[in-house]
Amino acid sequence: MFKVAIAGVGGISKSHIAAWLKIPNAKITALCDVRPEQMKGPQEQTGATTYVSFDEMLEREQIDILDICLPTDLHADYAIKAIEKGINVLIEKPISLKYEDVERVYSAAEKHGVKVMVAQVLSFWRDYLYLKELVDKRIYGRVLSGSMERIGTTPGWSFENWMTDESRSGLVPFDLHIHDLDFLIYTFGEPKGSRKYRARGENQDYIHVVYEYDDFFVSADSAWFNKDVPFQSGYRFQFEDALVIFKEKRLKVIPKDGESFFVTGDTGAADSGINLPATNAFLNEIEYFVSCVAEDKPTTEKVKKEELQIVLKTLLDFN
Ligand SMILES: NC(=O)c1ccc[n+]([C@@H]2O[C@H](COP(=O)([O-])OP(=O)(O)OC[C@H]3O[C@@H](n4cnc5c(N)ncnc54)[C@H](O)[C@@H]3O)[C@@H](O)[C@H]2O)c1
Repeated sequence: MFKVAIAGVGGISKSHIAAWLKIPNAKITALCDVRPEQMKGPQEQTGATTYVSFDEMLEREQIDILDICLPTDLHADYAIKAIEKGINVLIEKPISLKYEDVERVYSAAEKHGVKVMVAQVLSFWRDYLYLKELVDKRIYGRVLSGSMERIGTTPGWSFENWMTDESRSGLVPFDLHIHDLDFLIYTFGEPKGSRKYRARGENQDYIHVVYEYDDFFVSADSAWFNKDVPFQSGYRFQFEDALVIFKEKRLKVIPKDGESFFVTGDTGAADSGINLPATNAFLNEIEYFVSCVAEDKPTTEKVKKEELQIVLKTLLDFN
């Protein structure tokens, strides 16, 4: 049974904790947050020991896996502290705002013989994996273009408002757009070039980017607006022989020849019979990481150090 500690018991930790509770060979035994009230509910759920000091938790607990859900600027240093104690570490995205931290974290993990993985959740998300499979297997011919979107309201809920502090979160490029960029690099590799646009105002940040590949391009829009906007994310990819649209949690394929059909979501009348089962991407990523630790296999089949470096290099260019 792997003993798991969670550092940072805020917004995203809820999805992680729910997933950890479904993993049969793991148990959350320690929780750490500077705000004790954050840990009350999760402590009752898990029976874990709580700490307000990360260093004290590392000192006192025997931990096999640390799951870092802390503000972004703390990820790399906290990960390295744990790695140096021989602990395997799952790190929420982004690994850091600093390019050199990728090497720092991965070389520490190599030196201490532990696994590390950045939780790039779209690489575990069924609707995105479906798209990757269409690309890899050329099911509808080659890609002609793509567009991706991730738009919502400027967050006002984070601890000490760290998310709207550029030095702590990196704002929209690092917080939001990173998901789509991670997926593009995972699926297509490094873009040959890009054109980037950014509109910033008080409490808002919008970016529009066009990534260029050899014979297609992908545009992406990511934004925090200073008004209540329902969060929306999705994509539209144009293939030679089909249009594939993921919007409002429904994935639809419109083939050049034949009837259109829904692959996920409300399948409606035009159900093709190939619905994907409902899955939880956070559970998938955590299960994958646990399997890498349990079977001593590299995490790089899904998340590669070199791809993280390309992501950070590209995002740093938005500034
Ligand atoms: N994969 C995703 O879809 C996704 C979604 C949201 C956030 N995230 C990432 O998760 C991370 C956390 O984001 P969040 O939305 O949960 O933020 P949050 O502010 O809600 O939670 C962070 C928690 O860390 C605690 N904390 C701060 N400093 C600490 C310290 N020194 N020691 C211990 N605890 C400390 C805070 O009290 C807070 O409860 C970020 O890096 C973010 O990019 C990922």
